[in-house]
Amino acid sequence: MTTTQKSSNTVWHHATVTRQRRAELNHHHSIVLWFTGLSGAGKSTLAHALEERLYQMKYHTFVLDGDNVRHGLNGDLGFSDKDRVENIRRISEVAKLFLEAGVIILTAFISPFRADRNRARSLVGKDFVEIYCECPLDVCEQRDVKGLYRRARAGEIKEFTGISSPYESPENPELSINTSGKNVDECVDQILAYLVQRGVYKPAASA
Ligand code: ADX
Repeated sequence: MTTTQKSSNTVWHHATVTRQRRAELNHHHSIVLWFTGLSGAGKSTLAHALEERLYQMKYHTFVLDGDNVRHGLNGDLGFSDKDRVENIRRISEVAKLFLEAGVIILTAFISPFRADRNRARSLVGKDFVEIYCECPLDVCEQRDVKGLYRRARAGEIKEFTGISSPYESPENPELSINTSGKNVDECVDQILAYLVQRGVYKPAASA
């Protein structure tokens, strides 16, 4: 992981438009909602469904999605342990920028390693919410939306999470969502209730 700073002659410039002022303008706080789970566990589906509901309530959001980000910013990274670490390191930094920008940021990456998620948590601070999309491997494999599990089992894809590369489940996530036992709306409701409880926004009835 590259954490050393190569440029030495740089000075941090403090913004006058602070995160607090952005929150006043937006009428909601910013937060990082970090979805983690196996491929096919429902991270992207839930993140986008939640974003849709937040958008309808006029909140400022953005989804960073593993598959999408790997087409651009992280297009140079593969799925070795080292590349996954770097993938999550970059996403953590981007998430922190969005947090400063006043946005509710939803990240949907397998983020299989506990140490990486903990590093992301340390970087972001108290506004990091780990959401474990809990779904048994055999259910993800049956869903096999992208046909990748079948190819991984056939040996066509190396280092595939859950098959030939580990997934370390969260030990103490803020939220654990059983995506195999609930429908999407129920899962989204669970997260929205948590956001209200955290004071990210006030529901319309009590606003
Ligand atoms: S992570 O492990 O580095 O967090 P990330 O979320 O960015 O992974 O990308 C995972 C997505 O890439 C999966 O949903 C799947 O569509 C695709 N993918 C391709 N190859 C692999 C692989 N070897 N392991 C896991 N996912 C893979």
